Amino acid sequence: MDHSGTVVIVARPGSDWSDSLEVLSERYAYRVLLVGTPAEALTAMSSIHVDLAVAEDRQEETVGLDFLTRLRVSHPEIMRVYVTPAPSSVSYQALAKAAIYQFLLTPLDPAQLGLVVERALEARELHRRHRILSREFKISGALMFGERREPVFRPESHQFEKLVYASEKMAEMCDVAKQAAATELPILIQGETGTGKELLARAIHYNSPRRASPLLVQNCGGMPDELLQSELFGHKRGAFTGAISDRLGLFRAADGGTVFLDEISDVSPSFQVSLLRFLQEGEVKPLGADKVIHCNVRIIAASNKPLQDLVAQGKFRQDLYFRLKGFEFEVPPLRDRPDDIGPLAEFFAAKHADAMGRKVLGITANTLEKLALCSFPGNVRELENEIRRMVALTNDGEYITTRNMAPSLLAAASARRQGDGLRGFVPEGITLKDQVESLEKQIVGRALIRNHWNQSRTAAELGLSRVGLANKIKRYNLNENG
Ligand SMILES: Nc1ncnc2c1ncn2[C@@H]1O[C@H](COP(=O)(O)OP(=O)(O)OP(=O)(O)O)[C@@H](O)[C@H]1O
Ligand SMILES: [Mg+2]
Repeated sequence: MDHSGTVVIVARPGSDWSDSLEVLSERYAYRVLLVGTPAEALTAMSSIHVDLAVAEDRQEETVGLDFLTRLRVSHPEIMRVYVTPAPSSVSYQALAKAAIYQFLLTPLDPAQLGLVVERALEARELHRRHRILSREFKISGALMFGERREPVFRPESHQFEKLVYASEKMAEMCDVAKQAAATELPILIQGETGTGKELLARAIHYNSPRRASPLLVQNCGGMPDELLQSELFGHKRGAFTGAISDRLGLFRAADGGTVFLDEISDVSPSFQVSLLRFLQEGEVKPLGADKVIHCNVRIIAASNKPLQDLVAQGKFRQDLYFRLKGFEFEVPPLRDRPDDIGPLAEFFAAKHADAMGRKVLGITANTLEKLALCSFPGNVRELENEIRRMVALTNDGEYITTRNMAPSLLAAASARRQGDGLRGFVPEGITLKDQVESLEKQIVGRALIRNHWNQSRTAAELGLSRVGLANKIKRYNLNENG
């Protein structure tokens, strides 16, 4: 499902965008999301990458322009195009404040819109390349003065919408998820807390043919049964005490789109029956109604307790479990994919430094090494919180170092590393001196590899002087090629 960019359009109710949608998606192969309100646009932006926003106003209105003005601050990288019946209806100051790329007059000419979007994205790409080139220039300048800097976006890291990963495990899972997205089958996502289940669900929706329709989220945990049923299936007025008017229900509100049911393991037996009926027949029956209503919704469910165990304990219907897992994904815990820790840490550091307006230079290799050894029971969420805290503690113009790492994590990492370093190691030689030396050779060699043969950093880590380290390298005949 390749596309050349994502465009979100905030349309006024009742206006006809069909020709423009066709031009943008057919001729230019953009992925287009048509939404009715700025709030919906922001929800979409929190889970997918958007390149350009188009907002429309009618005479005397400024809802669209206000939205673009806010976007300039909250998402400065998104290009902005404004559609208005008459430029005279807004002040030039207001237009300047939104810093739009271009405005277009209604009635809209779809071909002109297509061209403007294309040019805007070209301009942005040129701007981006310019920024990267000047950054590289600065980095090579810094190198000349002996500083070393890792690029923020490593070549091995990938993104599936907002999911960042580098590990083989996640790459395989995201490949299948992209294929699953194109189908209509229900999806079950399992995994420990904080592993990214919701992010995966959102990525699947926005890569599915349903992406222009809503994705509605319902957390099923800790909800009284009647309330949950009425939230999802709706109710008729008077169906129960307090039901003072008809309620539509999430399933019908999401018609054509996706409903994400979080913490599905928590639902009652009677809710399980209603959900099963929906999955089998595509029908919902609002509480208190006598007729069933058909609606076309794809279900993505998530659970952090293994459903299979609940089935075995008789707490979850087996037939429902089988229906839900049209595709089944198990998001691995972070400790089982240490390759993701570095790229995620750097991604979060850049994200939170930006959000806090801080200019940290990056994370030192030693810190990344330590982070990769931590087990993170709270998974990616815990790592993100930790990095956010470390960014807050780092001064502008400095690197994030282990000095800012939570003591508990640091201790866990050192314990693990020493364990790893010595496990299975059999010293060579017979005399004590020979055995101690072979151990020393091993420790120095591993520290050099960990620090990518940066001798100052290795010396600092081992508490040696640079000359002391150089002597040991010579004595043990260590070299970069092993
Ligand atoms: N691969 C990833 N790339 C970027 N951010 C991620 C990734 N995985 C998780 N996150 C971030 O970590 C946090 C937790 O992710 P999410 O809410 O999707 O987890 P979850 O599995 O649904 O957790 P829970 O079971 O507690 O509901 C979010 O802030 C999310 O943005
Ligand atoms: Mg969740």
